[in-house]
Amino acid sequence: MNTTNKIAKSPIGIFDSGLGGLSICKEIVQLLPNESTIYLADSKNAPYGEKSKEDIIDFSIKNTELLLNLGCKIIVVACNTATTNAINVLRKRFDVPFIGIEPAIKPAALKTRTGKIGVLATKGTLSSDLFLSTSRQIDNVDIIETEGKNLVRLIEDGKLEETKSLLEKYLLPMVDQGADSIVLGCSHYPFLIPLIKDIIPKEVSVIDSGEAVAKQTQKRLKENDLLSDNLDVKNQFYTNLDVELLSNFLNQIDLKGDSEYKEF
Ligand code: DGL
Repeated sequence: MNTTNKIAKSPIGIFDSGLGGLSICKEIVQLLPNESTIYLADSKNAPYGEKSKEDIIDFSIKNTELLLNLGCKIIVVACNTATTNAINVLRKRFDVPFIGIEPAIKPAALKTRTGKIGVLATKGTLSSDLFLSTSRQIDNVDIIETEGKNLVRLIEDGKLEETKSLLEKYLLPMVDQGADSIVLGCSHYPFLIPLIKDIIPKEVSVIDSGEAVAKQTQKRLKENDLLSDNLDVKNQFYTNLDVELLSNFLNQIDLKGDSEYKEF
């Protein structure tokens, strides 16, 4: 590692429409303990999944600009909806490495024994060109798509328990149709894994891409000679809505750092 590389000491920037991307942030903090992070929860504009593509692109540009102004060396788009609708625009517009997250339908398709997989994601992700082109590349496997309508809103409001009946409504028909894995296509959903596992049979697997995104971030930092050897790291979390909700959520998931309100 080139320890003289000053940029390497800069933080990793991460954004999502709200609290969901904290599932990714946690994986990054665990895998890369020498990296500082800045997280933006654009909760004011959540849910992205029900917004137009143009709006999702605008929000993603605004979040990226702020993270770059705060000195970030790489941007992790910790949101499937923003990745599938906006990452190509971001990559063209900003000269910085980007890591995105997409529903892991390819790994699920490689593993399936029933030839059927379920994917739970937002309307914005399921209708995106990127998702459509990835699903078209998968032959001989049925992809059962379900929109997780209202789940993000309930998670943003800290009402995890209230998602149970909605989850049953969304998950059980996919299981009944023979899906042997459920792909979580929204970074908010990993927080629901304990509830999801209570609902679906044991033999149905739950696939989440958080860890893969953290590994991809590590790989890209290494390739670009941007890995940090900081001993004194800092994790900062900004929300443009409710800082108390953010701090409570961080406590619940045991993610340490400073949380602050910021207008963006
Ligand atoms: N967490 C986001 C995702 O991964 C966005 C959810 C939303 O705001 O609709 O898709």
